[in-house]
Amino acid sequence: MLSRQVADKLQQKETPFYFYDLGLLERTLETLTGEAAKYGYTIHYAIKANCDPRVIETIRRYGVGIDCASGNEVRCAIEAGFDPQKVVYAGVGKRDKEIRYAVEQGIFCINCESLEEMHVIDRIAAEAGRKVTVGVRVNPDIDPKTNHCIDTGQADCKFGISYEEVQAKASEILSLEHLDVKGIHLHIGSQIRNFGVYNELCDKVNAIVENLVSLGFKFEFVDVGGGLGINYDCPEAEPIPDFARVFELVNSNLKVGGRPVHFEFGRSIVGECGELITRVLYNKTTATGRKLLIIDASMTELIRPMLYGAYHNIENITSASEQNDKYTVVGTACESTDVFDENITLPITRRGDILTVKSAGAYGMSMASRYNQHDLPGAVYSDEL
Ligand code: LLP
Repeated sequence: MLSRQVADKLQQKETPFYFYDLGLLERTLETLTGEAAKYGYTIHYAIKANCDPRVIETIRRYGVGIDCASGNEVRCAIEAGFDPQKVVYAGVGKRDKEIRYAVEQGIFCINCESLEEMHVIDRIAAEAGRKVTVGVRVNPDIDPKTNHCIDTGQADCKFGISYEEVQAKASEILSLEHLDVKGIHLHIGSQIRNFGVYNELCDKVNAIVENLVSLGFKFEFVDVGGGLGINYDCPEAEPIPDFARVFELVNSNLKVGGRPVHFEFGRSIVGECGELITRVLYNKTTATGRKLLIIDASMTELIRPMLYGAYHNIENITSASEQNDKYTVVGTACESTDVFDENITLPITRRGDILTVKSAGAYGMSMASRYNQHDLPGAVYSDEL
């Protein structure tokens, strides 16, 4: 919860913008890296969650690497000073020029998502006169029990190579001369709150690794992806996700012959440190009696509620009213689905009040658009206030 003092200062600024609590980000990184160190786990931050320069600079200072989903994300990481040997790159549709760039930069590992892609990387590596370290992203067919829009590891989904195909094509994969298949990679989905899913993931990974090793794969590390969820319902109750619990679970259940284990967390690192600060433009009531608060942000700043039906807790940080009312919070975009939340209880809210849309540090700014020619939102950092 933002203090009154911070709220007063934020109120002076032009809205909408993202506010980043860099202190919380640092405490999150301290917890994450401290817990990971207990088991020698390697962390790559999924930069797609947020590539704000100050956010990633903070992350870099904690020695965490970067997981990328495009050539431009690889570039962003390298230009931000990350060692290419701490950069990994996955993505179902890597363009040739993106692969070429990643190869030239000598990044740690390219995680491959189809057999055809492996052939393309092999050819590009040959042209560059290099042998490239790759991982096989296996689709393990697991239901991560999260929002269906953001699961990635079920059999019918576009991500990864089916386990059956990896087994059937093992010798073809291993014959690619310019690829060094050192990694096995999985990422089953995002916003995982059911810890039992990690047990299931470990069981599957154990079986997959054992089997693929028997087929000739010489994996040197196992990357189990990201996915750890955050508490959108009540962020104050859990500002730092329970990394210790995930690591304990993985440590007790993953049996991969002592191979180093890598994680690619995005949301759980940056989700809670960011909030979208917005001002109420208008109140109006529909003919059906719905009380609308029209705010100066929209789906162009934060698309999660509209795209996934995602929930973000919204608070009025400037109203002094002791009386509450029910409101539907809508944005400025020319779209009927531009609704942040419906029928929520807030103190009596008037034009000019400041609302915060919480837990917006992950997949907020990074998914912002310029629809309706909106300006992209700026950023305000806690140490600037
Ligand atoms: N690794 C890979 C290969 C991924 O595809 C992702 C996320 C991550 C790691 C990081 O996952 P995380 O720890 O953040 O859950 N825009 C959606 C989320 C899409 C996630 C895509 N992949 C949202 O706003 O919920």
